[in-house]
Amino acid sequence: MELQKNSTTPAGPVLGIETSCDETAAAVYDAERGLLAHAVHSQVALHARYGGVVPELASRDHLRCLLPLVDGVLADANVKGPELGAVAYTAGPGLVGALLVGATAGMGLARAWGVPAIAIHHMEAHLLAPLLEDAPPAFPFVALLVSGGHTMLVDVAAFGAYVVLGQTVDDAAGEAFDKTAKLLGLPYPGGPELARLAGQGAPARFALPRPMLKRPGLDFSFSGLKTAVMMQVRQLEQHGGPGEQDRADLAASFQAAVVDTLVAKSLRALDATGRDRLVVAGGVGANEQLRAQLRDALEARGGRVYYPRIAFCTDNAAMVALTGYLRLSAGARPSTSVQAHPRWDLAALARQE
Ligand code: KG4
Ligand code: ZN
Repeated sequence: MELQKNSTTPAGPVLGIETSCDETAAAVYDAERGLLAHAVHSQVALHARYGGVVPELASRDHLRCLLPLVDGVLADANVKGPELGAVAYTAGPGLVGALLVGATAGMGLARAWGVPAIAIHHMEAHLLAPLLEDAPPAFPFVALLVSGGHTMLVDVAAFGAYVVLGQTVDDAAGEAFDKTAKLLGLPYPGGPELARLAGQGAPARFALPRPMLKRPGLDFSFSGLKTAVMMQVRQLEQHGGPGEQDRADLAASFQAAVVDTLVAKSLRALDATGRDRLVVAGGVGANEQLRAQLRDALEARGGRVYYPRIAFCTDNAAMVALTGYLRLSAGARPSTSVQAHPRWDLAALARQE
């Protein structure tokens, strides 16, 4: 993306810090040389036995891992702290304790090194992640953000100009994958496990609802779908099931219902906005069935779908560093205090401009 330099454009590489949920991540991005280094420490093993993220354990593990990760990426990038142009940290939305670890570390390091710090919106970072790739999407585009915490369609007219077109009224798509996986007895985190099991199943075996598809509008609802799977499991239990094949068929039928809904609403959003580029980001964007159906659907209408590489679909700091660079270059003011916003509306971010 071509940007005019101004007085707030970072004068050196940007360090990104991400601690909003259960991944500790650090990265160094340079406008001229690209991504210089990135590292992610996943807490999956830590939370697995609880079947979900335990916020207090997440905060403590971020504390333990963050500074060594930062040292590691600075060494990999061959950059010293004071040579950085800025430090960008995720300020929300997310778990408040987890966010505070990254925010206080980010502010503290920036102060110590005498460089500006900038607070970053996690969902903005997700939707800009494809700009890190070799053939990035040009603005404008529609973004489908599908993660464990969010499901939303956003019209992106330009950098910083975001209009939320629709979002989930209950569970996020990733959350629905995780909860349904649990119902099917799959280990945490369930999304990728369910997708794997679905590969062995028949998607047409169980007629599950395509939530909110018949209604106009661009909102989503996934909690009824999870309940529909639960009802099927109960029925199968009455007959001694569900057996191996039943579980695979249920997984495939569930995945098909979620993917059909996400694809149909994405196309509806493209129609409503007149855009022909779709950006998909967030953990569920790693789902192969979703990727295949969207690719075919966009090809059929002469449009194109863009993804970050799989590692940057899920939480990472490369997207945070890039967003920090873009925000500062666009004239955003650096943080003067520690910012941590567990709830932070993307539309409110656009209004701040
Ligand atoms: O973006 P992300 O790493 O974290 C959040 O900010 O939430 O997304 C994680 C979510 C989880 O719910 C996970 O189950 C889901 O993405 N996920 C998948 C797949 N890989 C990750 N869901 C479906 N299919 C996948 N292949
Ligand atoms: Zn995320």
